[in-house]
Amino acid sequence: MGKFKEKVAIVTGAASGIGYSITERFINEGGTVIGGDINEENLEELREKFGQSFIGIKADVTKEKDHKILVSEATERFGQLDYALNVAGGSKAGTILDQSEEDWKFTIDLVFHSVFLGIKHQGLQMKEQKHGVIINISSLNAHVPMYAGGAYASGKAAVEMLTKNAALELTRYNIRVNAILPGLVDTPLTKSFNKRPDIKDAFMERIPMERPARSKEIAAPSLFLLTDDASYINGTSLVVDGGWEVTGYPDMSKFRE
Ligand SMILES: NC(=O)c1ccc[n+]([C@@H]2O[C@H](COP(=O)([O-])OP(=O)(O)OC[C@H]3O[C@@H](n4cnc5c(N)ncnc54)[C@H](O)[C@@H]3O)[C@@H](O)[C@H]2O)c1
Repeated sequence: MGKFKEKVAIVTGAASGIGYSITERFINEGGTVIGGDINEENLEELREKFGQSFIGIKADVTKEKDHKILVSEATERFGQLDYALNVAGGSKAGTILDQSEEDWKFTIDLVFHSVFLGIKHQGLQMKEQKHGVIINISSLNAHVPMYAGGAYASGKAAVEMLTKNAALELTRYNIRVNAILPGLVDTPLTKSFNKRPDIKDAFMERIPMERPARSKEIAAPSLFLLTDDASYINGTSLVVDGGWEVTGYPDMSKFRE
């Protein structure tokens, strides 16, 4: 019954957008998700929808103790952690000249530091059990800068390099680590873009497929990377952007006061 039967995955940011779609598909394919998120209301909705297949834990990915809690939920209930998908993210925008140090640190903490903490604790458990796969959700902005997104883009680039470093260090324990770099995805994170037709048009001019991805279109390749069909894919990045990277990022400076 499904390719993830009796498999257990941690999904951070499970309560919305890409994390939600990954959770839904993993459960539909027979697996159990331990979902960590700060949005308790959404977590409760997922508990109601998915029943025993979803264990929702209020967890802040910037806190080391919360990653330990997510991993122990997996080991205490199921004795194993097969997969981990580090999805949670967000940012506070600002140009380098006007961004406060506080907002910079908030973004780097959420986008980058959280992934280090995740890999560390997920990896320690996977090392002990001698198997595991970790997926980190980076962004097209790891390769392409975004006006007023210096902290976010730098953090996502750092996630891509950390993914390679993690593969280098963890492969000896039978753990694969890869990154997904989504382009524009239709989720609550990007709803403000969709509300502004001028901004939306600027994006659509650059995206050859002329539409954002649906979050399911990010979930599917993420889950592929977990499977044995991807058994030789390690330490790499999969750009999932409808061809956007070939045209470059729009000039967002004209949309700021
Ligand atoms: N939407 C896009 O266009 C896009 C493009 C590239 C990359 N991404 C990345 O994909 C990931 C998911 O984004 P999304 O579009 O699904 O966003 P989203 O806002 O729909 O979901 C993000 C989830 O992360 C949770 N979260 C935020 N801070 C957290 C914290 N400190 N601890 C735990 N959970 C926290 C939120 O509560 C939310 O449920 C992010 O890392 C984002 O940077 C998104």
